[in-house]
Amino acid sequence: MHPLQCVLQAQRCLRWGPLTSVSWLLLRTCRAHSGVRSSAGPSPERRQEDGVWKDFSSRLATGPTFQHFIRSASVPQEKPSTPDVEDPPPYLTVDDLLGRQRKVYLETYGCQMNVNDTEIAWSILQKSGYLRTSNLQEADVVLLVTCSIREKAEQTIWNRLHQLKSLKSKRLRSQVPLRIGILGCMAERLKEEILNREKTVDILAGPDAYRDLPRLLAVAESGQKAANVLLSMDETYADVLPVQMSPSATSAFVSIMRGCDNMCSYCIVPFTRGRERSRPVASILEEVRKLSEQGLKEVTLLGQNVNSFRDNSEVQFNNAVSTNLSRGFSTNYKAKQGGLRFAYLLDQVSRIDPEMRIRFTSPHPKDFPDEVLQLIHERDNICKQIHLPAQSGSSRVLEAMRRGYSREAYVELIHHIRESIPGVSLSSDFIAGFCGETEEDHLQTVSLLQEVQYNMGFLFAYSMRQKTRAYHRLKDDIPEEVKLRRLEELITVFREEATKANKTFVGCTQLVLVEGLSKRSATDLYGRNDGNLKVIFPDVAMEDVTNPGLRVQAQPGDYVLVKHHEMETI
Ligand code: 5AD
Ligand code: SF4
Repeated sequence: MHPLQCVLQAQRCLRWGPLTSVSWLLLRTCRAHSGVRSSAGPSPERRQEDGVWKDFSSRLATGPTFQHFIRSASVPQEKPSTPDVEDPPPYLTVDDLLGRQRKVYLETYGCQMNVNDTEIAWSILQKSGYLRTSNLQEADVVLLVTCSIREKAEQTIWNRLHQLKSLKSKRLRSQVPLRIGILGCMAERLKEEILNREKTVDILAGPDAYRDLPRLLAVAESGQKAANVLLSMDETYADVLPVQMSPSATSAFVSIMRGCDNMCSYCIVPFTRGRERSRPVASILEEVRKLSEQGLKEVTLLGQNVNSFRDNSEVQFNNAVSTNLSRGFSTNYKAKQGGLRFAYLLDQVSRIDPEMRIRFTSPHPKDFPDEVLQLIHERDNICKQIHLPAQSGSSRVLEAMRRGYSREAYVELIHHIRESIPGVSLSSDFIAGFCGETEEDHLQTVSLLQEVQYNMGFLFAYSMRQKTRAYHRLKDDIPEEVKLRRLEELITVFREEATKANKTFVGCTQLVLVEGLSKRSATDLYGRNDGNLKVIFPDVAMEDVTNPGLRVQAQPGDYVLVKHHEMETI
């Protein structure tokens, strides 16, 4: 990826995730002469079926800029033309499964997987004839896409249900009754307990049951409660294209796998999201191609352990060359064989559109073979940013967590990554106060933060979850105030170290993908650099490298070169 050109003029302060400051920038890309784009276009058959593609190709012929695409990107349809309804179960008619233009309000909690799941759930409901609303007051159906990873996340949902209860009771008799559904991890973890504890809930759908939503809502329509919390061995929603809700979005998530087999002893995810399974490569590539055609400039490949990706959907994939675990890492499960692995997928995805940035999250440190690191290093459009969840800096605690590596193996991997990908940006997750964590263990985590100097971090106090191995075998023996004190200490050290790490960007010029107007000031724009740090810069006219002499204002989806002047950790 290369910017077309740029010119810098003023200076102002910008800031990112953890921070930065700045001067600014310029540059934008022109879609008109992207030869790659045509080679990445859809098949002839699809071109016929797809009016959007026809529109795209005719504009391409006349040399559109990126702005043409983003401003005319297809807007999510409010009204489905013909609802697409599956065969009904014997006790329901096809008609019962139709949404009859009922308005659905979706609210998402938790991780990016949930953001993507919300779009999948909506895609399914839209096909059944539901409409979407962003106004809670006018909703006929409210669906909460929930998270169970820590107790606090669940408490938020219980509180929300109390508010929704009063909304439901205020519903007029002339209106259809308000239906409330719990989707995702909390539905899976608590199952009927939710229906018993909170009478206001009408439907429950676990993470593998979204295809069943039209049926569940049809049952609820008749006044009964309905639940589907079955987990699947193979559901990946491969054929359900998520609906991009924001027509001006520059980035999208693409789910490439679901579930997790790692069984870290503290984690509820394997119980709420089930076994690890990967989506077929072909369907992922098709989705990314479509996003590229819509003008999106960044995709993030999503999964619980993205780099453990393994597409075994076709027999011949089983002859694929096997890849090794990172040195010093082991798994809690029996070694898996064959299949198309993450390096292959990443390679294919990154070839679709050289102007489209590729990110991925969350990976597991065990699956970083040299092929993956090499590819990230070589390919311009794969962001040099790696999330490497450590969880603890103490080998003793890591063993209790069943992470499959020691502190030494983790640090060696960090060195190897930094050697393989110079300038790589690193982030991590840490848990403070895990079962049996001593003050000495905690100090080892502090020293790991100092040793690595991450650019970004996500730090949590341990929250015991039922069903996990830690719940059955270990004691949640660190008092809450000690967990919080240790968490505070980790946050302080992380900030200090990130500030040092990110200072190295000061004086450097970086490529920033513009996302929109800054919330801080109407005269600033914001975007992200390759390392995923937020950059704020002035919204002023700058030279357009694709049209020498022309001065333009940057738009979402443009690439701009920004010179950092200072940074700030937030
Ligand atoms: N308590 C606290 N943090 C947790 N995480 C996962 N399970 C727990 C738990 N029980 C954190 C881990 C993981 C991130 C997504 O959430 O750091 O990487
Ligand atoms: Fe949870 Fe570990 Fe799986 Fe991540 S890898 S989802 S922390 S069990």
